[in-house]
Amino acid sequence: MRLILIGPPGVGKGTVSALLQQRLGLITLSSGEIFRREIEAETDLGRLAQRYIQHGELVPNGVTIEMMAKRLRDPAVVRHGFVLDGFPRTVKQAEALDEILFNHGIDLDKAVSMEVPEDIVVARLSGRIGCTKCGAIYNSASHPPKREGICDVCNSPLFVRDDDKPETVRERIRSFWTNTAPVIEYYESTGSLMRVDASKDPESTYAAITAA
Ligand code: AP5
Repeated sequence: MRLILIGPPGVGKGTVSALLQQRLGLITLSSGEIFRREIEAETDLGRLAQRYIQHGELVPNGVTIEMMAKRLRDPAVVRHGFVLDGFPRTVKQAEALDEILFNHGIDLDKAVSMEVPEDIVVARLSGRIGCTKCGAIYNSASHPPKREGICDVCNSPLFVRDDDKPETVRERIRSFWTNTAPVIEYYESTGSLMRVDASKDPESTYAAITAA
C-alpha cells in the first residue's frame, strides 16, 4: 500500500502512520521527523530547516523534494509500501512526487485528507509530548505516558516540540490553508483523494483508512 496523509498540524498524521507502520509493515516517511533528526544532528540541512520550522514556515521546496526523493529511492520503501506523513505539502512537491513514482514504475494508492475542526487540532497540539529517541507520540490529556516524562516504549525522556508554541501553531495552520489545501484539490483532480473524519479516536481513523 502506498499512501499520503494530508492534514493540518495536530490532526493525527504521525499517530495514524505509526499504527500503519506497526500493523501493516508500511515504512513511514515523515518529512517533519526527518528535519527534526537533521536539526538534532546539526547538519547543514538541519540548520537551514530550523530557520523555517521555528517560525512555522515551510522549508523550501528544492531541499525538501531532494531529501524525500533520496528516501524514496530506497528499494525497501518501494518493496514494502509507504506512508508519507507531511509530504507533499505544496503542489510543486506533489508534482515532483508524481515524477519520482513514475520513474520507479509505481503508483500511489490513496491520498488521505484527514479532516477535523480547527479547535480540536489546537487542543491536541497544546497537549502533545513526544519521545526524544523513538519518536512515539503522547498527549497529556488523551494519551498520557504511564510514567510522567518517560516514554513507554523505550524509557527515554519526553519533550514538547518548539514549534508547538501557540504563535507558531497559528502560523503553521495558516501555512496549511495557503500552501497545502491546494494539494488536496490536486489529488481530488487525479481521482486518488479520500476524505476521512479524523475527529474521533486514532483507531477510528485507522479503521476508516484501512477499510477503504
Ligand atoms: P510536521 O512534523 O510534519 O508537523 P505538522 O504537519 O504540523 O504535523 P504535526 O506533526 O504537528 O501533527 P500530526 O498531524 O502528525 O499530529 P500527531 O499525530 O503528532 O512538520 C513540522 C515542520 O517541518 C513544518 O511546520 C515545516 O516547517 C517543516 N516541514 C515538514 N514537512 C515539510 C514539507 N513537506 N515541506 C516544507 N516544510 C516541511 O498528533 C498531535 C497530538 O494529538 C498528539 O498529542 C496525539 O497524541 C494527539 N492525537 C492524535 N490523534 C488523536 C485523536 N484521534 N484523538 C485525540 N488525540 C489525538
